[in-house]
This record gives sequence, structure tokens and C-alpha cells, in this order.
Amino acid sequence: METNKARILCVDDESINIKLLEAILEPQGYEVIGATSGQEAWERLQALPIDLVLLDVMMPGMNGFDVCRQIKGSEELRDIPVVMITALSSKNDRILGIEAGADDYLTKPFDRAEVLARVKMLVKVKALNDQLNNGYKTILGMTSSARQLIQRFEPLDFDLLDKMDGLVGQIIGQHDEMRDRPRTMLVHAPNSAGKSCWYRYEVVAGKLTRTSLALEIPLEFSAEREEIFFYNQPEHGEIEGKHRGCLEKLRAFELPIINLVCYLGSSICVVAINYGREVTRYDASVIESLVTQTLFLKSIAGQISETEDAFTYTVHALARASEANDENTGNHILRVGEYCALIADRIGMSDQFVSIIRLQALMHDVGKIHIHPDILKKPDKLTDEEFAQIRLHPLYGAKILGSHPRLTMAAEIALSHHERWDGGGYPNRLAGQQIPISGRIMNLADQYDAMRNARVYKPAFDHAKTCTILIEGDGRTMPGHFDPQVLAVFRENAAEFDAIYERLKG
Ligand SMILES: [Fe+2]
Ligand SMILES: [Fe+2]
Repeated sequence: METNKARILCVDDESINIKLLEAILEPQGYEVIGATSGQEAWERLQALPIDLVLLDVMMPGMNGFDVCRQIKGSEELRDIPVVMITALSSKNDRILGIEAGADDYLTKPFDRAEVLARVKMLVKVKALNDQLNNGYKTILGMTSSARQLIQRFEPLDFDLLDKMDGLVGQIIGQHDEMRDRPRTMLVHAPNSAGKSCWYRYEVVAGKLTRTSLALEIPLEFSAEREEIFFYNQPEHGEIEGKHRGCLEKLRAFELPIINLVCYLGSSICVVAINYGREVTRYDASVIESLVTQTLFLKSIAGQISETEDAFTYTVHALARASEANDENTGNHILRVGEYCALIADRIGMSDQFVSIIRLQALMHDVGKIHIHPDILKKPDKLTDEEFAQIRLHPLYGAKILGSHPRLTMAAEIALSHHERWDGGGYPNRLAGQQIPISGRIMNLADQYDAMRNARVYKPAFDHAKTCTILIEGDGRTMPGHFDPQVLAVFRENAAEFDAIYERLKG
């Protein structure tokens, strides 16, 4: 790992002075970059991150005051401390230096102790300033990532690993100069099959990569409670303290660990390794808050999906209840849901429409609860009075389903599934586009399935005969009953109707 030396730009037109400063600073662990003119100094500042500038006042061309003014006038560079160096300790130079925005002075000839004391102090100020700025940037990044997470939140399609990718992208260093970020991250999280795996994240050629690791290492101290800690490798000596066990397990990843932040939870672990500086409680808080945010969304997604399951279950229960008085129609309600979804998809309805009709078509005959079983199961021809009773089931169904927004399509289908395109249906004798599309789809699906099954008043027809009746008509059922677009889709995809029937028959 690269060392984290403070980088000092020494600007003097006499290179002997740069050499002198180098001799003082380099043995103390500073990286010294030289520039022999104001112009060159400016170029260096554009090219490299600099932590401190030692700036000679008297230079030909762009002098020290000019360079200082330019640094302090720049949005990106103004936080770099500037120390003016002058052989002349005149009051005038100091005033000009203050006016140009300089942070401190040094006089030539250099006093080694004084140079080191000032440099040390200003480098520290710069580091604290950087931390503050980076902290601010992190908070901005976290706020924007939280906003994106919420905007893109799809509770029924929640992918934890995808969210972990986003979280790691927020934390990990994307390039060498992001010294306040970790280089590598390890995540232990469940994959799409629910099995917990280790993943290693790194940025390779500017791109975040996730590698799945074939390692089974449990890190957690306790499955019940979460724990977060940070660790900086001491220069000498062994690892100590209560996290020793965990750190030793991390050796299995064969990573040189200089520092880390580790989040251990019951369902996921996140380890951020090798920041370009010492890690602190602040780094631990950043990780903790991002992980908490992700786990919160995971929990909400779980709860929403549970509620959705309960809704689906209730729809099935109600649909089954509606068949209680009817003759045994087997999986009729499940099959019509599938036919409806197939037609809806092929006529180009949205995915959302397709999934709603698949479920809500199940309740089309819920109004039959109000019809006497003797009428529903009567093998002989119905009297006019009995037939009038049957014709009321769409109205009863719509009344049972009511006006809840989640059941709008179900109520619409219940009311309109016996209407005909030519206006000859019931209960409202609607025609053409007056009939909701869901009802037009259901009408054909229902009839196909009714024909395939034996009913008390008729035998079962095979697929070919059913197709002939629907497409060509038999005098009783006629092609003009159906929405031409729905009928065309049926004709083009008839084999798939047969496949659904075969799959779900019985
Ligand atoms: Fe019906
Ligand atoms: Fe039906």
C-alpha cells in the first residue's frame, strides 16, 4: 500500500533553496516537490494534490504574491496553506502577504526547527480541513444515495446484493487519490438463492468489481446483536483486545490489513479495509448508517411482500368460496387467470396489467355465491326465471368486490365478463369499446375453458373443436361475440391455451 506522506510544494527561483528545504523536510517523512518559477508552481498545483506550499516572494515573472493570490482565488485550491518565504523581513512584505491571503511566513536563512514546527502545524490543519471536507462530501453522497435508493425502491423486486453494490460504491475509494476511502471491501450477504456468501469488492481500472469467494468463514460474535468496530494496525506488537478473534479469521482472505472498519450483523457483514489514513469512529458511523439504511429497506421490502402474499391468499380464498355452490369446475379459476394473462400480454398490455389480471380474474364469478345451488347445478334447460337469476351474478359480484382501488379490475371483470362485443350480452348490454378491455379478455378466456370441460348440461370438447366454435361459430357461440383483437390473439396463440389447459387440468 502506498504511504500517506504529506506533499509539500517548494517554490523558489534558486534551486539551492529547494535543496535546503528538501534536506530539512524529507528526513521527517514529507514528500517535497520543487518548482523554480511561479508558472511552474501553478502547473504543479493543477497536476497533483498538494498539502502545503512554501513560496518564495522574489521571483522573476509571476512572483510569490501573484501565485498566492491565484491559489487563494481558486475554489479547488484555496484550502492549501501557503507559507511565504522571504529574505526581507520587511513589514511591507508581510502586509502584502496578508493581503494576498498567505497563512504564514518563513524567513531566509532557514531555521530548521522553525521550518519544521510551522510545516507540521499547517500540514495538520490541512489534514483536519480535508477530513472535514471529505466528511461533508460523504454526507452529501449518503443523502443522494438514500434519495436514489428510495426513488428506485421496488419492494417486490428487492435484490439485497444489488443494494450492497450501491452501498459499496458509496464507500470504496474509486481512485488512488481518494485517500480517505478503503481500497477493498468484503461483504458477507445472502445471494438470490438465500445462501450467504463472501464477496470481495475492488476498483479495477476505474470500475467497481465484485468477486464471489469460495470461503465459508463465520465472523459474527453473536447472531442476535450487531456490532461495529474499527481497527488500526499498531506499528509494533500483536493484535489485542476483544476483536482479535475476528481479525485473525480475516487472515484467511490473504489481504495485508493496515486498518479496517467491520460491521457484523445477523444477516450481513461488511468489512472496509485499508483506508489511506488512520480509521476513526467517524468511518465506523458512515458504514453503520449505510448498512442500517439498506437493512431498513430490506425489512420494509419483506413486510410489503408479506402483505402482498396475504392479499393474494385472500383473493384465492374468496375465489374458492365463490365456487362452493357451483358444480365442480376443478382448476377453472386458475386456468382463466393464466389465459387472461396470456391474452393481455400478447395484445401489448403493461406488465402491471398482466399481473393484476392474472390474479383478479380469479374472482369473476364471485357473485354466484348469491345464486341458489339448484339453479347452478341443474342439468336440464333453465326456465326463463332461473336464467334471469343467473344473469344477476355479475351485479352481485361487482357489489361484493366493491370500490377498493386494489380490486378495481376484479370488480370490472365481475360486472362485464358476460357482455358481448355485438351488444348481445348481459347485464348491461354493452357493446364494443364500451366493455372494459379486462372484461373482453375474460369473456373469451372463460368460454374457452368452459368448453374444454364437461358441465352438467354439456360434454367436454377437445382443443380443436373449441377453436372451431370460437373462431368460426356454431350458431350459439359466434365470432361476433368477441373483441376482434382478442379473438385474433387467441387464433395466433391457440396452442398456448391448450398447453395451459393441459398443465392445470383437473
Ligand atoms: Fe360468469
Ligand atoms: Fe368462469
